[in-house]
Amino acid sequence: MTQSLTLRRPDDWHLHLRDGAMLRAVAPESARHFARAIVMPNLVPPVVTGDQAAAYRDRILAALPEGADFTPLMTLYLTEDTDPDDLTAAHASGLVTAVKLYPAGATTNSASGVRDFDKVRPVLEKMAEIGCPLCVHGEVTDAEIDIFDREAVFIDRVLDPIRRTTPGLRVVMEHITTKDGADYARDGGADLGATITTHHLVINRNHILAGGIKPHYYCLPVAKRETHRQALVAAVTSGDPSFFLGTDSAPHTDANKLLPCGCAGCFTAPNTLSILAEVFEREAALDRLEAFASLNGPAFYRLPVNDTRITLTRGDPVQYPPQLETDDGPVTLFDPGFPLHWAVEP
Ligand code: NCD
Ligand code: ZN
Repeated sequence: MTQSLTLRRPDDWHLHLRDGAMLRAVAPESARHFARAIVMPNLVPPVVTGDQAAAYRDRILAALPEGADFTPLMTLYLTEDTDPDDLTAAHASGLVTAVKLYPAGATTNSASGVRDFDKVRPVLEKMAEIGCPLCVHGEVTDAEIDIFDREAVFIDRVLDPIRRTTPGLRVVMEHITTKDGADYARDGGADLGATITTHHLVINRNHILAGGIKPHYYCLPVAKRETHRQALVAAVTSGDPSFFLGTDSAPHTDANKLLPCGCAGCFTAPNTLSILAEVFEREAALDRLEAFASLNGPAFYRLPVNDTRITLTRGDPVQYPPQLETDDGPVTLFDPGFPLHWAVEP
């Protein structure tokens, strides 16, 4: 049995770092294992201009430990008022790597998102021209669509039409949760990719709802039935370059999770690599972990792979502290529900 696994240093292609005290607490957790991350712009207020992205990047860099080797790749939050020229300048300077599309109301802090997709057509066309990828939160928000169907309906009603009418637009389907999403991404050609989170490889909807409600397993898109989880595991362990790691590590304080109307998000930055190694080992696919975590993402984003490496070793179960203390209050780590035998060497 493999006892040690060395990978190119992974990247996280979908990460929430927040701001203020939460940023200072969680940024070191990602910097410990990851070289780069696509940083989500859903702050309050959201990061919509190049100037705001530059200021946020500075706050992230200031929150990193001395000597940390971690590059935040910034995103702009697409609104119906996004200025194509501001985006073009921010992308050309290397400040902004991608643009994030949230359908209005789809998830945490998405009120400024897009309601009328025709209004963002000029920006999307500009993005296709300059080669700036669009990261998509792929859920419709219509009240009459069942929450478990929102991803599949989004693909048919929104994503596929956008891709047909904007040839050349490079799209990342963020945090896909369904077989439908995996199939669409796999068949979508070189301009389409998909991130998959750690937690969606581990939990299905029973974990959230059976035997008592588990707020720490509630995230968006919500975990689906077991057949979908199995399709996601098959996708990531296939080595197909369409799929790459985006943890969607989304910290909320316990006080904000444990409410009658609690926040969506799982905090997985600290233990993601140990969990992934366990998932890939069970599928006898440890040799494909590097493709998913370290190679496929840079290939899609047309960035070099990382030169440095990390090593995981197999041994007695590794203990992660159940909570991260922050000056805003404790944040509970995602609990995979099984022992983790792979430790990341410091
Ligand atoms: C994210 C958050 O908390 O910002 N929550 C989540 O459940 N994933 C937003 C998001 O990515 O949808
Ligand atoms: Zn997210």
